[in-house]
Amino acid sequence: MAKLGVNVGRSGLMRPNETMRLIFSAVIGVMLGYLFGISFPTVSITKLHFPSSIISYIEDKNSGITTQTLLNHAWSSANTHKRNSTSDPNEIPKIHVSTNPKGAEMLPPGIVASESDFYLRRLWGEPTEDLTMRQKYLVTFTVGYGQKANIDRAVKKFSENFTILLFHYDGRASEWDDLEWSKRAIHVSVRKQTKWWYAKRFLHPDIVAPYDYIFIWDEDLGVEHFNAEEYIKLVRKHGLEISQPGLQPDRGLTWQMTKRRGDREVHKVTEERPGWCSDPHLPPCAAFVEIMATVFSRDAWRCVWHLIQNDLVHGWGLDFALRKCVEPAHEKIGVVDAQWIVHQVVPSLGNQGRAENGKAPWEGVRERCRKEWSMFQTRLADAEKQYYTEKGIVPPNSTA
Ligand SMILES: *[C@@H]1O[C@H](CO)[C@@H](O)[C@H](O)[C@H]1NC(C)=O
Ligand SMILES: *[C@@H]1O[C@H](CO)[C@@H](O)[C@H](O)[C@H]1NC(C)=O
Repeated sequence: MAKLGVNVGRSGLMRPNETMRLIFSAVIGVMLGYLFGISFPTVSITKLHFPSSIISYIEDKNSGITTQTLLNHAWSSANTHKRNSTSDPNEIPKIHVSTNPKGAEMLPPGIVASESDFYLRRLWGEPTEDLTMRQKYLVTFTVGYGQKANIDRAVKKFSENFTILLFHYDGRASEWDDLEWSKRAIHVSVRKQTKWWYAKRFLHPDIVAPYDYIFIWDEDLGVEHFNAEEYIKLVRKHGLEISQPGLQPDRGLTWQMTKRRGDREVHKVTEERPGWCSDPHLPPCAAFVEIMATVFSRDAWRCVWHLIQNDLVHGWGLDFALRKCVEPAHEKIGVVDAQWIVHQVVPSLGNQGRAENGKAPWEGVRERCRKEWSMFQTRLADAEKQYYTEKGIVPPNSTA
């Protein structure tokens, strides 16, 4: 205690040359901070190899970036002051652009970047020279390490014109690096979530805006007879906004609609079991694909993204509602037969559930899937009813 007291006492009584030294080092420090701030605005200061004393000094001063911010602030308030004093006959009016995205009305439109992409950039050089190509298509797989070999086969069916995005649900994202394509892929790792959870969070329409088509696929698909470029040619040719490849008939088939036809390029309608379709233009006889290997056009995805509910993570029932997003749905939703896949039905994410009340993990997951399906149907029907009622229109019989 006594020693501390002495130190405090000494610093309170600094000799003049100590004071000078302190001021001098503070000035140098601020200048350094400013220079770092403008030279490396996006690089964490701790990644630069400076002696730790300098780093801690800069960080104590809230880093060079903050210094720059303060200077900017000083500059702009000086400016404001100047404008005030000329008593403003031609004062520059405030910016307000109502056509800007909501919340960004104060910005001049020329600086507004409302959309993004998954293109990888360098940290150096000319930004305009970063990209050697801009992929026009995006494919996402929701994966666990156990399906690595299968995903490797699948990714190889997608040309360099595809951005590859993997959602890892088992936290083992770093274990894919030995695959050649893995280094140019985007890896998102969040444990134990579903495909639609990831899609809702990471595939906002403004983020995936540069992509003409977006493939949102499961991990257990056999792709031996599938080629993505050929698939897209067919989708364009037949005007499909929402589609999936035909499924090989023998395994994992729930609906007639998604069954591969051997004799054509695409189909948009089907016969179901008697009594299953109230209308030949409605699901599951038309306007219908399943959610395991869905492909969306940019415009369709902009709508479908809004249809995905944040809490209904399994997406059950979504397939029946996709038709709300395209018009006329029975012409723009279809199955591509000439490029087809095999659903291998690997219980993967199901095993990421939790054993509860004596039930196996997958049972709890399945139960939740069914519950979500009915919740989704109810929500959609209620929303439509509310809309029509508010418009003073007698709601049609539930179209959900
Ligand atoms: C200068 O402008 C500010 C903000 O617009 C205002 O609050 C302030 O009263 C003005 N000062 C003078 C001297 O006009
Ligand atoms: C990639 O896209 C370009 C431009 O559309 C096309 O010319 C090229 O053939 C595509 N690559 C493959 C492997 O199909």
